[in-house]
Amino acid sequence: MTDTRSRPYWLFAATLAGAALIAAASFALWGMGSDGFQHFTRYTARLAFLIFIVAFSAGALARLFPSDGTRWLRRNRRYIGLSFALAHFIHLGALTGFFISIGEAPDTATILGGGLAYVFIGLMALTSNDWSMRKLGPAAWRWLHLIGSYYVWLIFMRSYLTRLASETPPEPKIVFATTAALGFAALGLRIAAWAKNRRKPAPAAA
Ligand code: HEM
Repeated sequence: MTDTRSRPYWLFAATLAGAALIAAASFALWGMGSDGFQHFTRYTARLAFLIFIVAFSAGALARLFPSDGTRWLRRNRRYIGLSFALAHFIHLGALTGFFISIGEAPDTATILGGGLAYVFIGLMALTSNDWSMRKLGPAAWRWLHLIGSYYVWLIFMRSYLTRLASETPPEPKIVFATTAALGFAALGLRIAAWAKNRRKPAPAAA
């Protein structure tokens, strides 16, 4: 059990500082119009993705490579997950600003596919506390977080693989090859940890 003093609330401050830096750099380099908002949107998605990958792999890392560091990640994945939600809701704010600045609306498929991801992220964030875990019960809580996190993974991977396959990606393909590789590596870790669990179940306290 994490006691109150050791809860890493600094992760939220670090996420806000990262997003503020991205906003400052985007608007300073690309102006206060649609270009600035577009870069703010793009890089907040990237910030959120990096935090997501850590939360998504934390349990598997601790299972496969037990150490103080990986145990810290697993113990604090609630706060890492909440930091991801914070970063991704900033992405939502940024993309809203972007669409207002160009006077257009996203297409329906993006609104539905991305919107469902936001529903999951919102539900996962709202249930990331002891009270909700007790109310939902372990099975429902686990299903919600399992389905939600794989759906979010899928939407990220769809974006990166589409950019990788594009003839005119907005940045060099190495950027999207790296993010896609990170996503697949995280998935590989989870599969390996799952296989290890099937051979030898983790101790109850894990
Ligand atoms: C209604 C929902 C959403 C809309 C309208 C939307 C819109 C956008 C826009 C306008 C960009 C910037 C595109 C550019 O670089 O030119 C972007 C980037 C991106 N978004 Fe979102 N987004 C939504 C939800 C999501 C969700 C739920 C995810 C992931 C779970 C996501 C992941 C990404 C990624 C990975 C990028 C590219 C970042 C990069 O270039 O590294 N978006 N989005």
